[in-house]
Amino acid sequence: MIHPEIEKILISQEEIATKIKEIASQINQTFNQEEIIVVCIMKGSLVFTADLIREITCPVVLDYMQVSSYGSGTSSSKFINVKRDLEESVEGKNVLIIEDIIDSGNTLYKLKELFDSKNAKKVQICTLLDKPSRRESNVQVDYCGFQIPDEFVVGYGLDYNQRYRSLPYVGILKRSVYEK
Ligand code: PRP
Repeated sequence: MIHPEIEKILISQEEIATKIKEIASQINQTFNQEEIIVVCIMKGSLVFTADLIREITCPVVLDYMQVSSYGSGTSSSKFINVKRDLEESVEGKNVLIIEDIIDSGNTLYKLKELFDSKNAKKVQICTLLDKPSRRESNVQVDYCGFQIPDEFVVGYGLDYNQRYRSLPYVGILKRSVYEK
């Protein structure tokens, strides 16, 4: 049953589940039973991280960060504010940063810089969604679920005004919802 405020389902629950198995299999090959510190970037990545780690067969240590862009408006700022930092030390460790979506790329660009200064053994980036047409900062993504067009997507962790995160699919929000 589609939510009444969703225009259409862009990526179904089944497509997401299949893609997660594929990504996890690549991650398992890369890290080959070595321990990984999995860093969930809250809140959007919560759902994706929860499903992905259950397909990862390497030992996982789960941590999370919450970051926000400075400024307001629709375009992302190039500065990030760390609202919640890691508890784990990543020095000498394998790190996998999990994002729900890369839009301008500014958040991940700054995060990657931050991690590069922490002397981790290896830092990789995994995102469920990527909007390449919106890119401002160049970020190298190691694992990407789906490249999507520049549509207003919600669900599977993604929100509009903190709503719709619990939808099991990625859907396009009706314009009437955000143009009220
Ligand atoms: C979203 C998303 C990324 C960031 C991507 O987070 O989860 O962290 O924006 O945008 P960028 O590539 O333009 O930097 P948001 O700030 O909406 O927070 P949320 O995850 O709590 O919804």
